[in-house]
Amino acid sequence: MRVAIGSDHGGFKLKQEIIAFLVEEGVTFQDFGTHTPEACDYPDIAFAVAQAVARGEYDRGIIVCGTGIGVAIAANKVPGIRAALCHDTFSARMSREHNDANVLTLGERVIGFGLAREIVGVWLKAEFAGGRHARRVDKITAYEQEALAR
Ligand code: RB5
Repeated sequence: MRVAIGSDHGGFKLKQEIIAFLVEEGVTFQDFGTHTPEACDYPDIAFAVAQAVARGEYDRGIIVCGTGIGVAIAANKVPGIRAALCHDTFSARMSREHNDANVLTLGERVIGFGLAREIVGVWLKAEFAGGRHARRVDKITAYEQEALAR
């Protein structure tokens, strides 16, 4: 499992906490920044992480901002990315089992570090269930491909 991780300034502290969790869990990761608490623009980081996942260089991406919303919107513009904003463990598991989410987004200003750790742990372990869910995810991918070809 190779994980690409990134945040803007609004998610910087939570990103550092998640990195500590990944180290504890022995998960291979690459930090795409930001590397200081100075203000930066969340789309820059979200696109960098999402593109690396879409290119197949990483299996999953985790992106943090203040709310998790801006980075989810940006990441979902990258073809091949299914980013899910999850602030509870049930949504985190379902985003994998039903939606095959390949990017998880989180909001530092929304949840505590303890819950964020649990969400990341659940999300990294959960697998896509396939079956009828694959048909639905395939429809999203087909729409994306048609839109790109227009
Ligand atoms: C930055 O202030 C904040 O807007 C950003 O971290 C994020 O919450 C955007 O969705």
